[in-house]
Amino acid sequence: MFLQERPTVLTGDRPTGILHLGHYVGSIQKRVLLQGDADCFFIVADLHAMTTYFTKEEISLLPGRIHDLVASYLAFGIDPEKSVIYLQSGCPAIFKMNFLFQLITSANRVMGLPSIKEMAHNAKMEDEKISFGLLGYPILQSADILMSQATLVPVGKDNVAHIEIARDIARRFNQLYGTLFPLPQECLSEMTSLPGIDGKGKMSKSAGNAIFISDDYEVIRKKVFSMYTDPNRTRSDIPGRVENNPLFIYHDIFNSNVDEVNEFKSRYREGKIGDVEVKSSLAHVLNSFLDPIREKFYSYRKDVFLLDSILEEGTSKMRVRSEKLVGEMCARMGLYSIK
Ligand code: TRP
Repeated sequence: MFLQERPTVLTGDRPTGILHLGHYVGSIQKRVLLQGDADCFFIVADLHAMTTYFTKEEISLLPGRIHDLVASYLAFGIDPEKSVIYLQSGCPAIFKMNFLFQLITSANRVMGLPSIKEMAHNAKMEDEKISFGLLGYPILQSADILMSQATLVPVGKDNVAHIEIARDIARRFNQLYGTLFPLPQECLSEMTSLPGIDGKGKMSKSAGNAIFISDDYEVIRKKVFSMYTDPNRTRSDIPGRVENNPLFIYHDIFNSNVDEVNEFKSRYREGKIGDVEVKSSLAHVLNSFLDPIREKFYSYRKDVFLLDSILEEGTSKMRVRSEKLVGEMCARMGLYSIK
């Protein structure tokens, strides 16, 4: 088996806009930590974005969104000296691998996956309009993962089913054509999804309940003050519920002053603190966290030349690696080859 001391990590995002705190908590934080101890590959999955956004107008937004994503990565501390950031469509081997993996995946395995329906729903696409391409999303994702021969894939809960498919595909390929791929393992953060400010589900751009890293001081304050808390607490002298209260979930994650958080919690439970005080403190905490990130985001975002050169360097590394691997796949599968 593959006894790798140093794991190979692959993960990434569709370029659909600027990242928010939910991305940080669910995945980016983990990536930054893994950087020193693993070979890290971060994919800008533009082809995956196209599975739901494929019109000419939508595609014309991609370059700006790719820059938003790369600038967000850098702002959060992903370091291109340590990690490879690459553009999916810049590695043509992905198209070949995707097809070859489709051959060894049963259609049943991908049909009816809730994650696909959810992506369609978020893109305002009716179920009957789900394309072959969107149906094949997890196979394309498996090709991303296996292309880097990753052992570890940090993702959110919603992607776990896709990593299982990647594992099945790796196993099947190895069985049919000889061992080539390590079996990738998902790696979930303890906190896999941050609730949105409306308390209605996880933070996401499409739900309109996100705090973005580009949000300025005032916007953050406003969002925090509009946050959902304990709905039964109509006055500040009513004892409140701390558990599953987004205000305290955020405090627990972002406020490093544990004593203060504990004090807020006990006063809240006893009905001895107003939401305003807890919210003001949270707004302050989030701003202190985001100030340097926001500043870096804007300064990187302005430097499109730098962003492109980082992306080009990473993509050319992955291109070389992936061409070699897909060549090996074709050879193992016995494809007829002409010069
Ligand atoms: N599916 C991921 C998302 O939800 C994006 C993605 C594409 C990905 N390829 C990947 C994640 C490979 C992990 C590994 O946006």
